[in-house]
Amino acid sequence: MRFFIDTADLDQIQEAKDLGVLDGVTTNPSLMAKAGITGAKNIEDHYVKIASMVEGDVSAEVIATDVQGIISEGEYLASLAPNIVVKVPMIKDGIKAICHFSEKGIKTNCTLVFSAGQAILAAKAGATYISPFLGRIDDISWDGIGLIQQIAEIYAVQMYDTEILAASIRSSKHIVQAAQSGADIATCPLHTILGLLKHPLTDIGLEKFLADYQKGNG
Ligand code: G3P
Repeated sequence: MRFFIDTADLDQIQEAKDLGVLDGVTTNPSLMAKAGITGAKNIEDHYVKIASMVEGDVSAEVIATDVQGIISEGEYLASLAPNIVVKVPMIKDGIKAICHFSEKGIKTNCTLVFSAGQAILAAKAGATYISPFLGRIDDISWDGIGLIQQIAEIYAVQMYDTEILAASIRSSKHIVQAAQSGADIATCPLHTILGLLKHPLTDIGLEKFLADYQKGNG
């Protein structure tokens, strides 16, 4: 499973990159606002900066919700850098736009996916990625990981090329479960990636190894 980081914060992107495990970045308008990036030109410049920091795909989300608007905004975003993927909402006009982008060879990430039916439609339209929001599903006491499993099974049976990008990850446990459930990618907040490092027995074991070394060599 590949790792994307779900943030517009350049320091966090750099930290994940320095760890050596970063395969890409996803953003959305809320994450841009959280990073203090406002205004169309600043947002564009920020996408270009992010895209230059990583080799993998960087999702840039359209604001338009009508097909023509999504197409022109998406084509513009895709022209900013070769690794920019157009993030399109799961709405009727979004599906039409994804068909268009797919025909033109422009990569897309269909976002706000909450059901297997939506995942099938996005795959049929030719989306490169779909983003099921597993944390938001869990937030309302449904089963986010169950949805990832269901989509993974459908995509395998139907041999769809669309990749499952597990999004709205809330914890390190979600990352492990997404991997187990057949997600191709997990897009994660930095703290959930760093949480994968932690185990008390690792800390205790390392402390003992170093203490024993000191006894013999100190
Ligand atoms: O990028 C979309 C997604 O990951 C949103 O996550 O935490 O706002 O539900 P969250």
